[in-house]
Amino acid sequence: MTQKQLEELLSSMSLQEKIDQMLQLGSYMFSDSEAIVTGPMAEMGLSKENLDQCGSILGSMGAQMLIDFQKGVMERQPHHIPMLFMMDIIHGAKTIFPMPLALSASFDPEMVKEGAQIAAKEASVAGLHCVFSPMVDVSRDARWGRCMESPGEDPYLNGVMAKAHVEGFQGKSLSEPYSVAACVKHYAGYGGAEAGRDYNTVQLTEHTFRQEYLTPYREAVKAGSALVMSSFNTVNDIPASTNRWLMRDILRDEMGFEGVLISDFAAIQETIAHGYSEGAADAAKKALEAGLDIDMMTSCYSGNLAKLVEAGEVEEALIDESVMRILKLKNALGLFENPFKDADPEKEKDIILCQEHREAAREAAEETAVLLKNDGLLPLDLSKKIAFIGPYVNCAETQSSWAVAAEPKDTITLQMAAEKIFDPERTTYLEGCPRIGADVKLVGFEMFGNKISGKAGDRTEEEWKALENEAVNAAREADMVVMPLGEHYLQTGEATSRAFLDIPEVQMELFRKVAAVNDNIVVVLYNGRPLDLREISRKAKSILEVWFPGTEGGPAIVNLLTGKANPSGKLPMSFPYCVGQCPVYYGHYATGRPIVQGVEERFKSKYIDIPNEPLYPFGYGLSYTTFEISPVTLSKTEMTKEETITASVIVKNTGAVAGTEVVQLYLQDCFGSTVRPVKELKGFERVTLQPGEEKEISFTITEEMLQYYTADFVKKSEPGQFVVYIGDSSMVEEGKEFSLLRIVYKY
Ligand code: BGC
Repeated sequence: MTQKQLEELLSSMSLQEKIDQMLQLGSYMFSDSEAIVTGPMAEMGLSKENLDQCGSILGSMGAQMLIDFQKGVMERQPHHIPMLFMMDIIHGAKTIFPMPLALSASFDPEMVKEGAQIAAKEASVAGLHCVFSPMVDVSRDARWGRCMESPGEDPYLNGVMAKAHVEGFQGKSLSEPYSVAACVKHYAGYGGAEAGRDYNTVQLTEHTFRQEYLTPYREAVKAGSALVMSSFNTVNDIPASTNRWLMRDILRDEMGFEGVLISDFAAIQETIAHGYSEGAADAAKKALEAGLDIDMMTSCYSGNLAKLVEAGEVEEALIDESVMRILKLKNALGLFENPFKDADPEKEKDIILCQEHREAAREAAEETAVLLKNDGLLPLDLSKKIAFIGPYVNCAETQSSWAVAAEPKDTITLQMAAEKIFDPERTTYLEGCPRIGADVKLVGFEMFGNKISGKAGDRTEEEWKALENEAVNAAREADMVVMPLGEHYLQTGEATSRAFLDIPEVQMELFRKVAAVNDNIVVVLYNGRPLDLREISRKAKSILEVWFPGTEGGPAIVNLLTGKANPSGKLPMSFPYCVGQCPVYYGHYATGRPIVQGVEERFKSKYIDIPNEPLYPFGYGLSYTTFEISPVTLSKTEMTKEETITASVIVKNTGAVAGTEVVQLYLQDCFGSTVRPVKELKGFERVTLQPGEEKEISFTITEEMLQYYTADFVKKSEPGQFVVYIGDSSMVEEGKEFSLLRIVYKY
């Protein structure tokens, strides 16, 4: 449609018809069942007319089902306007890639983009138009369960991954085959929840907020994200979903976002519980005035905006503005010409979970694994007697709680993959214990008939005891033990904040018993968040972090364990020494009393009972080979704003096998008009080297890299002294100084 046709369409719509375009409901609301009509529909005060005119649905995929649904919708909608179909496609649709935090560990935006393309392809043939992804919330507190969905603690890395996702989902244009609209979320600052408790208050200074937390959303907007989702939390003490400064001033005016703004699930209505809106009508007025276009899953807009317009309390022009954005999105997707877009039951069969997608998912799982420790056990010596012991040995639930469309039956487990490679005569596979004991409470997860598997109650105590004995005996007889352990997938994700960052106790008990009879333990770690690994790292010789690795996790892990693949992932979030450090992140601000390495003093910024450093820092990860990175050389030590400096190192593979190193560039701004972080990631490069091979890696330092939101909230550089660090993790210590020169005008 042309813009003129869209305008004509808009002006021919009734007020309520327009408002219902701003309504998003779950697909289940459209069943004719009595239970829905008298239940949720009645509770929300929605009529059949509202449903007939509703602009979008969330939460269902399937080509034929959505084609039929769209046909019905268009017959009923007064102007035959097609609906938008949206869903949480977070790290794959059916072919599940490693969880987003893991994807970030690859430091490989090309791979992430390809993964997003694959997800878009599977989602689009299954009828979807829009995915609620990427989630780009900076997350620095491992207690927050949603860090598994995020690209991690660093604004720059988050921004790179945000762009890769948006480009992968959306392709060159939304109307082209297999493109879906991206929806960057949760705007904004959601990852800053106080004490890591989900949905909690966020208290950030405006400076930190702009400088650190807004960066990834800015990158996603720049990359053209078609939608933005507002968050549940407050920003400057006002709920984000009714925060005009956040949405109109910053997102629209400063960032130039022209797409559709959607609330998070019931977030407009929740501003009442926040004590900010006095009722649904007040919430609707505030959210609309703040710039939110779509009300997800409540009737605040549908039930109140018409009355507010009629009473002269809100301007109809604001509704027109929002509806035009929604119509434009439908038009950009080509839905007025082809309301089914790519939905195709035949292609759905061929494309979903096809070999090509599975291989890409496997490669991604290989690239995202992080080798945290290796005292010589890895890669495994296949001539040895090996016992695989732990509840993840043959577990198919390795996709994360956000892989909502995934089915465990499609997963290749570790055991399934290992049986193809390891000699059956010398290898045993034993579960040994459940994933969670009775002490882990997962309240509310069994709603809607869902069943939690992997819990102690699945077998009798005697049965578990027998399995444990069998496992410990096998460990005693084996040369080495591979222990796949970790969090239950339901322990991470939304509403899963934890005050303890441990592996479930029932698994630790098994680990201790195995460790008592065999010193040679490799732990393969499945988890959604950084954990407290002190005990594991003391007792296990090797630790391979595999996160929730997705559909092809099993084959990827076998390749990694056997050395067919060499680990190259780096931590995108610091793993705390213990929970008392949280939030802990490498780019913390400088204090007036920093500790000096090796010097013990009393009045310093430190703990008296634990170190300041995390157990495993941001950017850290080992390989089966070793690399040497030379000291940094600079092309010059002074630059003006117009100039650049080249910073270089030589990276050499000093080990015996080929491997990939992620070379990381950090800058430190030594003095500023505000206090600055001790280090900031500004670039990285993956470099693959054969044994003995070396390569020069150079980064160009530009004035733009030195800019930040200064004391007056303006993004600019400040002349002065900087330090460049290039290394293999955020702990790199040796840097080189340079100066950004003040411009001196000569008359
Ligand atoms: C989550 C969002 C998600 C939405 C729709 C909310 O509870 O916070 O991330 O996109 O539900 O499923």
